[in-house]
Amino acid sequence: MSEQQLFKVTIDNITVEVAPGTTILNAARQIGGEVTPPAMCYYSKLKDSGGKCRTCLVEVSKGSEKDPRPMPKLVASCRTTVMDGMEVKNITSPRVIDARAGVVEFLLINHPLDCPICDQAGECHLQDLGYEHGKEETRYEFQRRSFHKVDLGEYIQLHMTRCILCYRCVYTADQLTDSREHGVLDRGDHAQIATMIQKNLKNDFIGNVIDVCPVGALTDKTFRFKNRVWFTKPMDAHRDCSKCCGEVQLWMRGDEVYRVTARKDEWGEVKESSKGSTGWICNDCRFDKKHASDWIIEGPTNVSRHSVISANHYQKLEQPKETVTEVMNGIEPRLFMNIHDVSEVNQQHVQLSLIDGPATGKVFNKNAD
Ligand code: SF4
Ligand code: FES
Repeated sequence: MSEQQLFKVTIDNITVEVAPGTTILNAARQIGGEVTPPAMCYYSKLKDSGGKCRTCLVEVSKGSEKDPRPMPKLVASCRTTVMDGMEVKNITSPRVIDARAGVVEFLLINHPLDCPICDQAGECHLQDLGYEHGKEETRYEFQRRSFHKVDLGEYIQLHMTRCILCYRCVYTADQLTDSREHGVLDRGDHAQIATMIQKNLKNDFIGNVIDVCPVGALTDKTFRFKNRVWFTKPMDAHRDCSKCCGEVQLWMRGDEVYRVTARKDEWGEVKESSKGSTGWICNDCRFDKKHASDWIIEGPTNVSRHSVISANHYQKLEQPKETVTEVMNGIEPRLFMNIHDVSEVNQQHVQLSLIDGPATGKVFNKNAD
């Protein structure tokens, strides 16, 4: 079988080879770090997601090797596939930085600034995006949207004012549960997530909408207002579950389990389980197993040091390697010079605390005038 030909794509001057059909966003994820555009609506584990929020815009400065013309408009990297020889600019493009600031401004037009009381604070992608690309003030003078309260049942709290209409929760309900009972109703600035006849969302896997929601629009009622995430300690744990992979993260304080979520990767998406499938978890594991004794605790979750959640959870850092010894063929480093040997000022026999008045040149050099 002939080997698949790979496409070369250069993003912010870093070249990577990817399979044809890969999107620019996923190619950038292979490079990682700041080169990767933010994604508020795309979710690699949800089919058809992406193309809604425009936070992932990038500039294509060279279309391909065969047709090097640049693309005239910025493109959504989650929906645009790479071509061989394509050159893309993300953080190296002032146009992209400017457009992203505009997108963030739009996303925040109706979003309330209630981070101090929002359960998503500390793990909110919009909070991060606003911090990195937001402007200090709003130009919006009209009243923000308001909605009638919709009750989504005993487990999930909907704050429609915080929703950015990314559709992730709709795809989650569609693709993970037997029947979807909520969706986006109406259009334009009336669009809202609702159940229409206020049905409870009772499907076994519906709790995963909480994990995919990038903002605090869908939060866990069993955790609501109980703690701030950065005061809790995330632990990897598992149990034998007949419905899901049973591999979770427990958000603990002392021996108390405050919240149970799926495990997330560096992009904030639910990770693959050890069995190879996406690690979605069922409602039983998420909402009903709130005792440490329900779980086999594996140990502390590795939290990125850049996350506010890592506050007070630093891991012991390894001592830096001593390279002097290595380059000097095993000779230990030593002081190359004793300052007292060469300085006329720092003389050991002079005790400044014992002299009367301020120190002058004579104190150090008797021959000085
Ligand atoms: S509720 Fe959350 S996941 Fe659902 S559309 Fe709104 S922001 Fe997206
Ligand atoms: S992540 Fe690409 S448009 Fe939202």
